[in-house]
Amino acid sequence: MNILEHPLLHDVVALAHPVLYGIVTLAALYVAWSGLLRARSLHCDWKHPFPWKKHVFWGSIVLGLWGIGHLSGFAGAMFAWNTTFFEPAHAYTGVLMLPLALVGYFTGRRLDRVKKRRKLLPAIHGINNMILVILALYQLYSGYEMFHMVPWEII
Ligand code: HEM
Ligand code: HEM
Repeated sequence: MNILEHPLLHDVVALAHPVLYGIVTLAALYVAWSGLLRARSLHCDWKHPFPWKKHVFWGSIVLGLWGIGHLSGFAGAMFAWNTTFFEPAHAYTGVLMLPLALVGYFTGRRLDRVKKRRKLLPAIHGINNMILVILALYQLYSGYEMFHMVPWEII
């Protein structure tokens, strides 16, 4: 049998994307929570310790994976249905997340490298990334709804 047609490989590839991105969404909630603490300190004068290094480290992992998320999703879709854009809302939202992830990463990198008191750039970074978090929660919901449409071979 051709290894690419093995039922176990089919299921593992189709499952890899939803499992990985479910975990990434949890990591994103941590980054968003620490970012919101920072926003309260910067804009409301309500002082909080900000886990700067952890925010940058986990934020970079989350945005990097969101930026390439559509690729693993399309790979899963090829294995599941032999086509892409099978579920247009989930697919287009995934593609839309790429430019937003780039904006989020490069604004964050600038804030990290050139430290000074400012309000506008953190606000652009924060709003852009909170939109991404909302889109990711929508992806979690629509991705969960897609589960029963995947023709699982073994599971
Ligand atoms: C899911 C990803 C991310 C989310 C949801 C997020 C969210 C936020 C939010 C809400 C703030 C507060 C903004 C404000 O006070 O107006 C913030 C601040 C900050 N973020 Fe992010 N962020 C993410 C990723 C990143 C990345 C990848 C980096 C660096 C490469 C980064 C670096 C920073 C820095 C340095 C600040 C503090 C800015 C300052 O106090 O001047 N963030 N983030
Ligand atoms: C947040 C980042 C995410 C992005 C950028 C993303 C992107 C994509 C894309 C572009 C596809 C291909 C759809 C098609 O061609 O019809 C896809 C498929 C899929 N996505 Fe997502 N997705 C994300 C999160 C999730 C999450 C959290 C789940 C799970 C609850 C999920 C479950 C699925 C499923 C089940 C498929 C079908 C293919 C497969 O089983 O691998 N996605 N995704």
